[in-house]
Amino acid sequence: MTGPAAEAAAVRREFQRIHGRAPEGGWAAPGRVNLIGEHTDYNDGFALPMALPQTTVLAAGRRDDGLLRLHSAQGDGRVTELAVADLAPGRVSGWARYPAGVVWALRERGLPVGGADVHLDSTVPAGAGLSSSAALECALAVAYDELYALRLPRPELARVAQHAENAFAGVPCGVMDQMASVCCAEGRALYLDSRSLEVRQVPFDLTGHGLRLLVLDTRVAHDLADGAYAALRAGCERAAGLLGLAALRDLSEADLAGALAGLPRDLAPLVRHVVTENARVGRAVERLTAGEPEALGPLLTAGHASLRDDYRVSCPEADLAVESAVAAGALGARMTGGGFGGSVIALVPAAAAGSVARAVTAAFAAVGFAPPAVLEAVPSAGARRIG
Ligand code: GLA
Repeated sequence: MTGPAAEAAAVRREFQRIHGRAPEGGWAAPGRVNLIGEHTDYNDGFALPMALPQTTVLAAGRRDDGLLRLHSAQGDGRVTELAVADLAPGRVSGWARYPAGVVWALRERGLPVGGADVHLDSTVPAGAGLSSSAALECALAVAYDELYALRLPRPELARVAQHAENAFAGVPCGVMDQMASVCCAEGRALYLDSRSLEVRQVPFDLTGHGLRLLVLDTRVAHDLADGAYAALRAGCERAAGLLGLAALRDLSEADLAGALAGLPRDLAPLVRHVVTENARVGRAVERLTAGEPEALGPLLTAGHASLRDDYRVSCPEADLAVESAVAAGALGARMTGGGFGGSVIALVPAAAAGSVARAVTAAFAAVGFAPPAVLEAVPSAGARRIG
C-alpha cells in the first residue's frame, strides 16, 4: 500500500505508539508555491498560489484535562506538553509554536477549544520558501475545526492560522500561504483577493499542455522573522499613507507614473513592484482561463525582474537559477515566496525538464554554490481529512 492511505495509516500508527491510544482522526495540509503575485498579500492585493503534493500530516485526539501534547517526526523525539489555558505569545519556541499558536488563536476568538494529543509528520521542506509553517498551522486548524465541531469557513481558518503566525510565532506574514493551504484544489491555481479573501479556482492543466513546473530550492534558508520582511511591509504602508490610499492595492497601473513622481526615492520602487505585480496576476489569470498556461512564462520572468530590481528580495542563487533555467529552455522562471533565499519556480516544456534541472545544477557548481534541490510542483488539493 502506498500513497495517501498508507500515509494516513502510518501517522495513526505512530500516534498510537507515542500517545498510547487511538487517534480520533488524521488530517493533511499542503505547502505551496506562488505562481505570481509576490509581496502583494499584505497590500490587500492579488496572488495566484497552488498547493504542492508535499504536506504536513497529523493524527490527533482530544484530551479533557486541558493539555496540548505535541509530537513531531521532525522533532527531537520528546513530547512537548503545554497547558492550553497558559498559552501566550513568547512562551513556546521551535516548531511547536505554530500548532500551539493555532490553539491559542482559536481561544483568542473565544472559541471553546481544549487540549489534544497530536503526532505530526511533514514532507514540506523547511526553510525552502514553500510554506512549511503554514502547512503545519493549517493541518492543526482543520483538525481542531473538526474535533471541536467549530465549523469555521475556510478563509476564517486561514485567518486564525495567520494570526497564530503573526502574534504567537512573531512572523509578520500576510494571508496568502494559509489561504493556499486551506483553499487550493487539485489541478487548479487559486486566484486570491487578499482584501476580501474571495477566491477563484483557475484551471492549471500542466500535463495536458505538455508542461512541467520545477521547483529549484536554492538551499539558501530564508527567515521572515529577521526584520527585512517587516521593513518592506512598513515601507508599503508608509507609501499607501502618503498617497492617501487604504492600501497599495488601490493604486491602478494607469495612475502609477503620477504616484511615483511624488514619492520618496526609497519607496517608489516598492510601489512600482506591487502595482505591476498585481497587474501581472490579472494577466496570468486571463491566460490560464483562456487555456494558455504556456503564456505564463514571460509573466514569471518579468515578475522576477521586478522582485530583484525594485523590491530587492532576490539573492544571487535565485537570480542564477532563473537565468540558467531560462537559458536552458524554461518558458519563464521566478523566485517564489518571501525571498531572501528559498525556491525558484521554472515553467518548462515537459521534454526539457531534465536538461533545465541539469543546467541549473551545473551553473550552481560552476560558481561554487551548493547544489539546488529539485522538486516538481503538481497542483494539488488543499487541507483535508485523511482518515
Ligand atoms: C511569505 C509570506 C506571505 C507573502 C509572501 C510574499 O511567503 O508568508 O504572506 O507575503 O512571503 O508574497
